[in-house]
Amino acid sequence: MHADIPPAIQTVLDRLHAQAAQDAGRWRERDGGDGAVATSAGGGDLVRLGEFYLAVSPDEGRLLHILARACGAKRVVEFGASFGISSLYLAAALGKQGGHLTTTEVHPDKCASLRRTFDEAGVSQTVTLLEGDARETLAEVDAPIDMLVLDGWKSMYLPVFTLLRPKLAPGCLIVADNINHAAAADYLAHMRGSEGGAVTTVIGDLALSYVTP
Ligand SMILES: C[S@@+](CC[C@H](N)C(=O)[O-])C[C@H]1O[C@@H](n2cnc3c(N)ncnc32)[C@H](O)[C@@H]1O
Repeated sequence: MHADIPPAIQTVLDRLHAQAAQDAGRWRERDGGDGAVATSAGGGDLVRLGEFYLAVSPDEGRLLHILARACGAKRVVEFGASFGISSLYLAAALGKQGGHLTTTEVHPDKCASLRRTFDEAGVSQTVTLLEGDARETLAEVDAPIDMLVLDGWKSMYLPVFTLLRPKLAPGCLIVADNINHAAAADYLAHMRGSEGGAVTTVIGDLALSYVTP
């Protein structure tokens, strides 16, 4: 099942998933279980919830890995790294195909942890971490972007997408998590409308889009 993930990365992933599972229990106690607060922050309280992983599941992570491999992505951008679970699945794919991940995180403690994690997993050469508000740090990212993963605060999906839109390659794959959250509704409406310049479908809690040439 894990055959395509290098052992050094899988070892770190196993530990992070175990920690994420523990704190998912604490999270359910905290917010009543629907995760609503986790994903909706506006600009006023951007840096928060630092103790929570809010991470993709192993299956979702493997899906990101498979998608990055299948589309042969060379330049991938991620909005919202947290403790790096999704980043590691992407880095595992990119390491095999000479690609590079630029990921983003605003919480300073998480950034410090991410740097240690990327070192430990041996992916520091494959991943660039931009520390700060992605709406600013992503302004200078290089084009063309072959794959974009949106998993930061949901109200910022549309601003981040709009910022990066000129740099998205024709055929760019966009994966947006927690798409059924109310705060992501403007993003989904945009992507389903003609102005998004993309074809979009929703599978479960993921929106998958393909930038039309
Ligand atoms: C749902 S978690 C990401 C989970 C991660 N993708 C994973 O699967 O392991 C969202 C993260 O996005 C970060 N974030 C939210 N808004 C941000 C912004 N504007 N810029 C950078 N990071 C942001 C939060 O601090 C949080 O750690």
